[in-house]
Amino acid sequence: MNVPRINGDRLWADLMAVGKIGASAGSGVTRTALSATDLEVKAWLLAQMGQLGLETRTDAAYNVIGRLPAGQPKRSGAVAVGSHLDTVPQGGRFDGALGVLAGLECLRTIREQSIALPHDLELISFCDEEAAHNTGTVGSRAMLGLLQPGELLKSVGQGRRSFAEALQACGKDAARVGEARRDPADFAAYLELHIEQGRRLESAGVQIGAVTAIVGIFRYLVTVTGEAAHAGTTPMPLRKDALVQAAPLFSLLPDWVQRRNPEAVGTIGRLEVHPGAPNVVPGRCQFVVEIRSPQREDLVALRDQLRAHAAAREGWQVETVLEKAGTPLAGALIEAVAEAAAGERLSCLRMASGAGHDAQSFAAAGVPAGMIFTPCRRGVSHHPDEWIEPEQAAQGCQVLLQVLLQQAE
Ligand code: GLV
Ligand code: MN
Ligand code: MN
Repeated sequence: MNVPRINGDRLWADLMAVGKIGASAGSGVTRTALSATDLEVKAWLLAQMGQLGLETRTDAAYNVIGRLPAGQPKRSGAVAVGSHLDTVPQGGRFDGALGVLAGLECLRTIREQSIALPHDLELISFCDEEAAHNTGTVGSRAMLGLLQPGELLKSVGQGRRSFAEALQACGKDAARVGEARRDPADFAAYLELHIEQGRRLESAGVQIGAVTAIVGIFRYLVTVTGEAAHAGTTPMPLRKDALVQAAPLFSLLPDWVQRRNPEAVGTIGRLEVHPGAPNVVPGRCQFVVEIRSPQREDLVALRDQLRAHAAAREGWQVETVLEKAGTPLAGALIEAVAEAAAGERLSCLRMASGAGHDAQSFAAAGVPAGMIFTPCRRGVSHHPDEWIEPEQAAQGCQVLLQVLLQQAE
């Protein structure tokens, strides 16, 4: 059989159209989960899915879902393809969007060429992959029953809404998020195309990554409480400056992490100082400590180091935000990606992912999950300069289509 071809120009046009939603000059794309721009992109996707004749819906966690029903005879278990359309603040055009729009392009190709598959195909754009409310991969974890009790209600920082509050403000009933949950047996497989977000592929001159595993991520909300005071009249020895008390940790964390494992990383990417005025000694500061490693033992050891540091000091409080272990992806799908790349005469590297992805939720729930990476320029991601070439998007999408069709065999 001739291999059906995706339409790379159409995929690129979609990437550019979606890249305008939430874009601002010089500041990249901001579509943080459940913001106005996120709702706009959800509406855009629903319209595209509708035009394609998919059965569309949003679920209780505000995942956007389009279904292309199976032909006859039908097998149980849908094959799902997806990623996310939310972005980090001032992010790029491809992180997440590539996977959703490539999925859309695959479904269009399948429809146009009247290919009947023996299983339902679902295209899913997951809600809040990017941790706008600190935890991340919320939609996919809600779908796979992996949320912790009370997780969505947790404080995110002063003046920020919890996921539940933001969801409610979007007109969904936050008390019913549990209804997004599905039986993992509903899915025969999950596939996701994504930009690599690192530079291994580009440096090696390789066109496709077959993802073997996804890194583990632990996150903690740390609050340090001191005493606010007048910044002009309070002598230095009398201060209880919360930021000064917290500061040594900011450079200790990189040390701890590097000593533990060169593959581990640690970041403090969100910091708030209260009350936050130039003439007030900080009375309290709050920040999120994130650690990542493929090895669970590293995460546990670094967490314990953080807790010990906090316990030895007055006014420190450490709250768990997320503890997600690293997850291997399905061996058969790793091989399917490598074979599909070979079929397209594209070079391929088997590699682990240092970024988190919705695929991890499926793998953790026991659904066979596979991921395809495309290189991105200089490995830049979570940044306005994130970039891939149209040809790279098309190559990744074509490999996705092949792996998708292979699931019917
Ligand atoms: C998602 O991009 C993540 O790795 O945090
Ligand atoms: Mn991201
Ligand atoms: Mn992503």
